[in-house]
Amino acid sequence: MRALIRLLPLLMIVLVACSPEKLDFAYDDLPPGDPARGAELYVRSSGGSASCQSCHSLDGVKGAGPPLDGYAGVAGERVDGKSAEVYTFESLLRPSKHLVRGYSNVMPSDYTDKLSRQEIADLIAYMLTLQ
Ligand code: HEC
Repeated sequence: MRALIRLLPLLMIVLVACSPEKLDFAYDDLPPGDPARGAELYVRSSGGSASCQSCHSLDGVKGAGPPLDGYAGVAGERVDGKSAEVYTFESLLRPSKHLVRGYSNVMPSDYTDKLSRQEIADLIAYMLTLQ
């Protein structure tokens, strides 16, 4: 029992370090995004991950992920009190945090490693133009 208690702090550190929720930067730390550049990134594979387009159509057709046409209009209403920008930031970098109803948790969760902060900002700016 005593050994277990001694191990507890270590366990906590390991848990926190491995927590998928943890990001060491926030939406506000990003540079201004360029939607035109984001549109290019959307159709391109990033560091070996599937392109956004391969799971997210822009014409209402369901794929592995929800279609993203009309996304700009709903992003700010997905989670109470969360702006469209912050919701998109979290959906892109920590997809398991907010799951869209009817879809599985299959979106790659390593875009933080595959995309630069500029690219993340560009993609978010682009997604928030999708009518
Ligand atoms: C392997 C398939 C896959 C790829 C690749 C993928 N996604 Fe997703 N994405 C999903 C799925 C499935 C969901 C719904 C479940 C969830 O919310 O995580 C989702 C959810 C989202 C949402 C939330 C949508 C909403 O209506 O609330 C956004 C935004 C998003 N993805 C953006 C992107 C972007 C940008 C890329 C490319 C950098 C990308 N996704 C790549 C599968 C994918």
